[in-house]
Amino acid sequence: MPGFEIFGKEEKKEIADVLDTGVLFRYEFNEQRKGVFKVREFEEQFSQYCGCRFSQAVTSGTAALKVALTALGVGPGDEVITQGFTFVATWEAILEVGAIPVFTEIDTTLNMDPADLEKKITSKTKCIIPVHMLGAAANIQQIVVIANKHNICVLEDTAQAAGCRIQGQHLGTFGDCGTFSFDSVKTMTTGEGGMIITDNEDLWRSMSEYQDHGHDHKVNPGARGGEGRRFIGFNYRMMELQGAIGIAQLAKLDFMVAEQQKNKSKLKEVTTGIPGVKFREILDENGDSATFFAFTLENAEHCKRVNDCLKNEGQGAINFSENSWHFFPKWEHLLEGKTLTSSGYPFAEPGGRKRIVYDPQALPASSDLLARTLIYPVSIIMNEDKINAMRKALTLASKV
Ligand SMILES: Cc1ncc(COP(=O)(O)O)c(C=O)c1O
Repeated sequence: MPGFEIFGKEEKKEIADVLDTGVLFRYEFNEQRKGVFKVREFEEQFSQYCGCRFSQAVTSGTAALKVALTALGVGPGDEVITQGFTFVATWEAILEVGAIPVFTEIDTTLNMDPADLEKKITSKTKCIIPVHMLGAAANIQQIVVIANKHNICVLEDTAQAAGCRIQGQHLGTFGDCGTFSFDSVKTMTTGEGGMIITDNEDLWRSMSEYQDHGHDHKVNPGARGGEGRRFIGFNYRMMELQGAIGIAQLAKLDFMVAEQQKNKSKLKEVTTGIPGVKFREILDENGDSATFFAFTLENAEHCKRVNDCLKNEGQGAINFSENSWHFFPKWEHLLEGKTLTSSGYPFAEPGGRKRIVYDPQALPASSDLLARTLIYPVSIIMNEDKINAMRKALTLASKV
C-alpha cells in the first residue's frame, strides 16, 4: 500500500482520454464524450475482476457503505452488527442511515469473531458488516452461515482489501454485497472513490438510482430531465477522472498484491526470532492482499518493550490499541455521544431520551489482543536498505 506508489503513464493516458473530451461527468453529454465512459468502463472491469455481476461506483468507501445500507433497506429501528476494530466510517454509515451500531470482539484474524457475533444477534438485527481489516479476510464463510441461519443480510466492508481472495473467490462476493474504498492510502487508489459489488440485480438497481438522486436512468424523450424516481436519493456520483484512474490502477492490482506478498514474506522472516511471536491468522496465504503485516506477542508489556526498541531504531510498528481512528475504546466522540444536532440525534431522540449508550470496556478480548499486536504497513516498493534496517531493528528487539 498504497497504489499511488506506482502511478505512471497508464494513469496519465486514461486521464488524458477524459480531458480530451472535456466531459468530466459520468452521465449525459453523449455526443461530446465520443464514446468515453470511464466510470462505466471501470465498473464493468471491476465486476469482471471480482467475478461478480454488478459494480456501482460512488464517491468514497464511506458513501459506498451508506448507499449499500440504504439499498438493503436498513434504517431507524434496526441494529447493524460490526466489529470494534475498524475505521470510524463503518459505524458512521450505520448511524447515517438511522440504525444503531452493535460491536463484536475480534478473533485471531483481527476481524469479526463469529462466536461473539452469534451472541449479539437480536430480533432487531437487520445487517451484519464484517470488515476485512488491514487487507486480510474475516472468517466470512462462517459469518455468512450464521447470517443465513437468522435470515440477516451481510455487507462486507472490503475497503482495505481489494485484490484479496479466499481459495480464488474475491472478498466482497461472499455476502449480499461488498464495499470498497479507493482513498489515498488504499492498495488501489483513485484519490477518493468507492465501489459496491453484488450479484443481486434489484439491489444494484436501487444503489444505482439512490446514488444519483433516485433518477431511474430509463431512456425517455426528455433525456435526464425526463427521468422518473421510485424513491428519494442523494448524490454520490463518481466523476470520470476517478473512473479513469481506477481503470489504470485496477490493471496493476494483481502486480501490487504480488509485490506486497514478496515484501511481507521478507518481514515475516526477520520477525520469527522474537520469543513467543505469533502471526496474524491468514485464512488463505495465497489470496492475501498483504497490505499489512501483523504479529502478536504473549503480553502487552513484552509488546511495548519490543516496540520501544523498534522505535529507537527508527522502525516503530503500529499498535492499534493506541490508535484513535480504528478501535472502539478510543472513539471518544462515539462513546460520549457527540453530535452537531441540537436534539442530540443520533445518540438521543428528539426530547432527549438516549437511544445509544456504549460501555468503553465492552470488548475485553479485542483490547487484550490489540494491546499485544504490532503491525507494519507493507509497501509495493520496499528496497533492500529498508528491509535491512528492519532486520537489524527486529533482531535487536528479539532480545528485549
Ligand atoms: C474499513 C474501512 N471502511 C470504510 C472506509 C471509508 O473509505 P473512504 O475513506 O473512501 O470513505 C475506510 C477508509 O479508510 C476503511 O478503512
